[in-house]
Amino acid sequence: MCGIFGYVGEKKAVPIVIDGLKILEYRGYDSAGIAGVESGKTLFYKDIGKVDSLAKMIARKQLKINTAIAHTRWATHGGVDTKNAHPHFDMKQSVAIVHNGIIENHLKLKAHLERENIEFLSETDSEIIAQLIGHYYNGDLLKALLKSLLKLDGAFAIAGVHQNHPDQIFIAAKGSPLAIGIGDNEYFLSSDVNGFLKHTNKVIFLKDGEAGILHKEGFEIYDCKGKRAVKQIEQIKSNNYEISKLNFEHFTLKEIHDQPESISRLFVSRFEEEFGSVCLKDMGIDESELLETSRILILACGTSWHAGFIGSYLFESLSRTPTQVEISSEFRYKNPIVLKDTLVIAISQSGETADTIAAVHELKAKGAKVIAICNREESTLSRITDHTLLIKAGPEIGVCSTKAFTNQVVLLSLLALHLGRMHHQSKEEAVYFIREIKKLPQLVVEILKQSKHIETLAKKYNHFNNFFYLGRSYMYPASLEAALKLKEISYINAQAYPAGELKHGPIALIDKDCPTIALCSNQHTYTKLLSNLMEVKARNGPIIAFAPRNSAGIESIADDVFWLPEVCDEFASIPISVSLQLFAYYMAKFRGCDIDQPRNLAKSVTVE
Ligand code: G6P
Repeated sequence: MCGIFGYVGEKKAVPIVIDGLKILEYRGYDSAGIAGVESGKTLFYKDIGKVDSLAKMIARKQLKINTAIAHTRWATHGGVDTKNAHPHFDMKQSVAIVHNGIIENHLKLKAHLERENIEFLSETDSEIIAQLIGHYYNGDLLKALLKSLLKLDGAFAIAGVHQNHPDQIFIAAKGSPLAIGIGDNEYFLSSDVNGFLKHTNKVIFLKDGEAGILHKEGFEIYDCKGKRAVKQIEQIKSNNYEISKLNFEHFTLKEIHDQPESISRLFVSRFEEEFGSVCLKDMGIDESELLETSRILILACGTSWHAGFIGSYLFESLSRTPTQVEISSEFRYKNPIVLKDTLVIAISQSGETADTIAAVHELKAKGAKVIAICNREESTLSRITDHTLLIKAGPEIGVCSTKAFTNQVVLLSLLALHLGRMHHQSKEEAVYFIREIKKLPQLVVEILKQSKHIETLAKKYNHFNNFFYLGRSYMYPASLEAALKLKEISYINAQAYPAGELKHGPIALIDKDCPTIALCSNQHTYTKLLSNLMEVKARNGPIIAFAPRNSAGIESIADDVFWLPEVCDEFASIPISVSLQLFAYYMAKFRGCDIDQPRNLAKSVTVE
């Protein structure tokens, strides 16, 4: 899994590809590498660590190449070391390739080539691609590429150079995204169009099974049978978002603070309070399709799955629509049953998550209508679904998701309100919920103003190595998300449980060294939660409660309380999530962690 980038043209390729790689670093940052051809020989540099380490390494070399491929890695096959960093080569080092994806049959192919005395240098699945091309090459690069591709099972986006074809890059894709940027006598390739958007917005996307050659005079794309493909050039709208930390120490902190604004962005021209209606016309929603919806299926991974989980409570409560929420990686192998009148919603911040994309392909093959909830208009998910609802959170750079999560939940809330009003909700009820949801940006401002208090709590508790997060109803998925934040950025073990389940086993772990974070914002189940917290207290477990100001009795049970502004249960996951994002942030800061790019993670997981 990884990001790949390439340039062919008349300019110096190195600064362009390094810049492109930095934009793709969200796809992994275990190691980075670059390759090109100089004086009839492949040259390459690679190093473990982030793109900056590679950039420093090659800054001294003054490379003058005008064609280069580059890679930023998230390790799948083979540890994080230089031999497994990309680019990879054939035995003669005549071919260099970079790869995003997984070659599932690489061991079988490797055994076959080893019998022909071909030696492998890395533990990766990717090396087989270069070895095959080198093995089949007899002067015709395209032929060797197409022949090699026929042998590969799995997903790939590939770019490569050959020493006998110095001003060319060969490319191929199947199941992993690859976009080609078209400039004036120059071409770019990237796992994600953002990699080259500052150079050009003219783009072609490779379809599954396509392969080709880029050179500075043009490009040739072929289908898997070698037939020339006619490609449509698309113009991508460039967005006006500025990517900067401003005065914040980390992108993650800045993005937590962005939330009043990012939520408000979703509210513009949205409410007709006098009619109790939420207007989604600008989102291009097909109203007749919504009217026919009697069941919802939500698919997502990670934080987006948590947002979808909250969404399932919202749809059932606000629009009385039976809703199933599934983790994409599990769902895709279930042989799903698609019923008529089911609206499928695929949620993904990046729109590039391999498991969610595969699950959508499976559903589309069964004839389902799928809408995407996504932060990226030009993403793979947006292109394969029937319709996309954009969460408009703006670029999220920190690897752990913060503002994208809250905007996903807010968008799901708006959809649930709209659907509820279409189905059964009275005007009075609708007006009440509109008034509640409109409070959210201001409530988040109130939380952010109390950052110092949350920092103090983190200072007190950051030496603990195990935490429980407990909540009921809406607060259960919110607790899953809050515990994930802590795990991701502070590397502290955190288990989230529906509070009522604690007594069925996990309570055995409670003692004075295992604090419980209590998410108390669900009024409907508040007294039940208090009983569960008493059970924790009876076993000497420290309790830190995040509770609305009207929560009676919590002070006498909890060791510490962070007071939250009040809002109805349906939307309470937003303010509490922001407060627990801040808690995870300060915990990680006190422990000296790499908050924006935590170890072992990637922002977008493009392998299954
Ligand atoms: C990775 C990220 C998570 C994210 C998940 C799903 O694991 O680190 O923050 O929630 O992928 O990503 P998506 O782009 O589909 O929302």
